[in-house]
Formats: sequence, C-alpha cells, structure tokens
Amino acid sequence: MSSSALLKLPDPGRDCPSCPRLVAFRETHRALSPDWHNAPVPTFAAPRPRLLIVGLAPGLRGANKTGRPFTGDYAGDLLYETLTDFGFARGRYQARPDDGLELVDAAITNAVRCVPPENKPVGAEIRNCLPYLSETIEALPSLVCLVALGRIAHDATLSALGVRRAAYPFGHNARHDPRAGLALFDSYHCSRYNTNTGRLTREMFRDVFAAVRAEIDAAS
Ligand code: URA
Repeated sequence: MSSSALLKLPDPGRDCPSCPRLVAFRETHRALSPDWHNAPVPTFAAPRPRLLIVGLAPGLRGANKTGRPFTGDYAGDLLYETLTDFGFARGRYQARPDDGLELVDAAITNAVRCVPPENKPVGAEIRNCLPYLSETIEALPSLVCLVALGRIAHDATLSALGVRRAAYPFGHNARHDPRAGLALFDSYHCSRYNTNTGRLTREMFRDVFAAVRAEIDAAS
C-alpha cells in the first residue's frame, strides 16, 4: 500500500481519464512494459509531514516505472541524498520502491501525476492535475514548508494555494509567504539537464534544504 493510501491523500485513480495525451502515452507504455507502474504516481509521505516537496512530473523510466516519486530518476539521486543529509529521510536510497527508505517529517508529490512525453506537461495537463495538488496540501494541516522544484512546480503550487502568481516571482532559494504559517521555498529542478549544465550545483541545492531545515526547526 502506498504512503498516500495510508494517509488517505487524494490520488487520481490508476486509469484517470483527464488528459487524453497522457492517457495515450500511458497505454503505449503499458503495452510495451506491462511490469512497470505506468499510472499516476501517488504522493510519498511520512505521517504528519511538515515539509512537502513538489516536483514536476514522473520520469518515464524512473517514477513512472517504479511508482514512487523521483525513484529511479536521475533527479532522485540528488534529492534523496540531500533529504537524508538534512534529516528528512532515513535508510539507504537504492532507486527501488522497496528499498526501505523512509521520509522523516516530509512528503514528495508532483504537480502532474502522470508521465508526460519528453518530461513536458502542457498547460491543460497541469491545470487538470491541480485539484490533486491543492487537495494534498489541504489534507496535510501539519505542513510548515513547501519546496517547489522548478518554475512549473512553483506556479502550480501558487495556483493550488489560490494566490496570485505575480506576487511571488520564482527565484532559486527564494522564500515566499503565500499563506500564514506556510513558507514556500523555490529551487531549480534537480534534473540531469540542470545539474549537467551547472545551473544547479549540489551546493545550491543543499542551500535550499539548509534554509528549509532552519525554518522547520524554528517552527517547532
Ligand atoms: N521524478 C519525479 O517524480 N518528479 C520529477 O519532477 C522528476 C523526476
């Protein structure tokens, strides 16, 4: 059973019909790789998390294959290492959903729950999935911090919170207060492209989680 099932977090059903392009992509990959997850990827969550990380969408051979956010994705190597170092995960990440890794006081979800072709969801797909993000945030009253990985996740998170995007411009390691008692931190996405081009270094990513750790510790 997934963590979100245990926590009763909102998830689209395995056969969510909302986005025709994503449904077609999913059906193609169900036929090609019947042993893969090939369905919306549920939120991975510790009980009563104070931190929610919002990614973009599952990677084809990562979360879409394994069924756990960022698991098996290149981006997951840096994300899970960083979460472990800052006390938000424990265990050894081995890129498998049964690796025993546990989140600590944290949850990870995606702005778009289904894998999009070329990792690029279109506007309608982001909008169709917004209710799940919004309901996930509302279902977790323990949250103190959100981290948006990349601009699309940042924009989706603001829309999910029902606040004006223009008031909270995206910036790496920017901190926003979109709702009383709930801080939003931005990071460049920890994708292979961003890390290979040097747009995001390991240190830059760690800086964000150091700030998040301090925020959460100060709130306790
Ligand atoms: N895997 C995910 O689950 N989300 C991302 O944003 C990238 C990879």
